Amino acid sequence: MRPLRCLICGETYLGRIAPDRCPFCGVAGRYIVDAGEYVDHNGMQLSEQSQQFIRQAMEIEASNVAFYKCAADCASNEVVKALFKRTGKHEAEHLELLADHLGVDEPEIKPEECKNDDATNMQQSHDREDRAVKMYMRFAAEAEEPRIKEIFSAIAGIEQEHYKMFNTFR
Ligand SMILES: [Fe+2]
Ligand SMILES: [Fe+2]
Repeated sequence: MRPLRCLICGETYLGRIAPDRCPFCGVAGRYIVDAGEYVDHNGMQLSEQSQQFIRQAMEIEASNVAFYKCAADCASNEVVKALFKRTGKHEAEHLELLADHLGVDEPEIKPEECKNDDATNMQQSHDREDRAVKMYMRFAAEAEEPRIKEIFSAIAGIEQEHYKMFNTFR
């Protein structure tokens, strides 16, 4: 085993080979590198525009964390529960990494409503992921700093996978 580290969320992983996706933030395995190659970007200077992008993304992530928690609690079976639970944990990790880059505390998570019906929650999840993908791709294209482009493009990639997953299940 050796220590590996995710270039996006900074979480560490012990294993022989990099996993297919980061177990914490869900980004593609290509972002998981030998721990020695990791670069800490927290506390970097950010343009006003990037700060604004991160604040908007944090709102989406916080709302999605709360929604997926509700959907997992209401799930009718273990497959649906697992799907919502891990998606929510990915979103919580995104929220944390965004807050770290902005140098602020993570916001308090306010509860969100969901339905006592898996299909309706799947449809809503699909719409939430679609909104996140579109927004993050725009942020990745417009951000000035290479690091902020990298973060939004990596997160857009996993939100796209969430979107496809909910498309299959809804
Ligand atoms: Fe990660
Ligand atoms: Fe996310």
